[in-house]
Amino acid sequence: MKKFALLLALPLIAVACGGGESTALTTATAAPELDMAAVEAGKATFATLGCVACHGANGKGDGAAAAALEPKPRNYSDSAWQDSVTDEHIKKVILEGGAANGMSPLMAGYAAQFEGKEADLNNIVTYIRSLKE
Ligand code: HEC
Repeated sequence: MKKFALLLALPLIAVACGGGESTALTTATAAPELDMAAVEAGKATFATLGCVACHGANGKGDGAAAAALEPKPRNYSDSAWQDSVTDEHIKKVILEGGAANGMSPLMAGYAAQFEGKEADLNNIVTYIRSLKE
């Protein structure tokens, strides 16, 4: 019954809000869509900067160099980890490296590589987020 009332109310709300806002109303409940262009760009940068050597081509922490690392890079598909960290944390570790954030010093800081390239950094974060399973 509640659902029925809501269905009746929706067009009214949409009319009341006007065209632009009614779109916001319908998309607000849907899961946020990934920006696939950003995911692809982030994935490319992840490869060019050599992150794949340790983190693996698919971010599972199984890159060629990972066997020699202790602790090993985590598996980015781990949804519990994904839910436990903010985008800010991910960016901070990438820019400052592990040591400055209480993590392995073998995770270097990449501040120089991302100097003036905030879009590239955001794309890498979007790519990492896209790996959540
Ligand atoms: C030499 C190997 C190596 C390379 C290259 C490397 N990382 Fe890492 N990275 C690590 C290790 C090891 C950790 C885990 C540190 C820990 O858990 O103490 C880590 C952790 C991280 C984290 C933090 C994840 C968490 O658990 O919170 C992020 C984000 C990250 N790396 C991104 C990158 C990106 C992006 C690049 C490329 C620009 C990169 N890494 C390059 C080894 C590497």
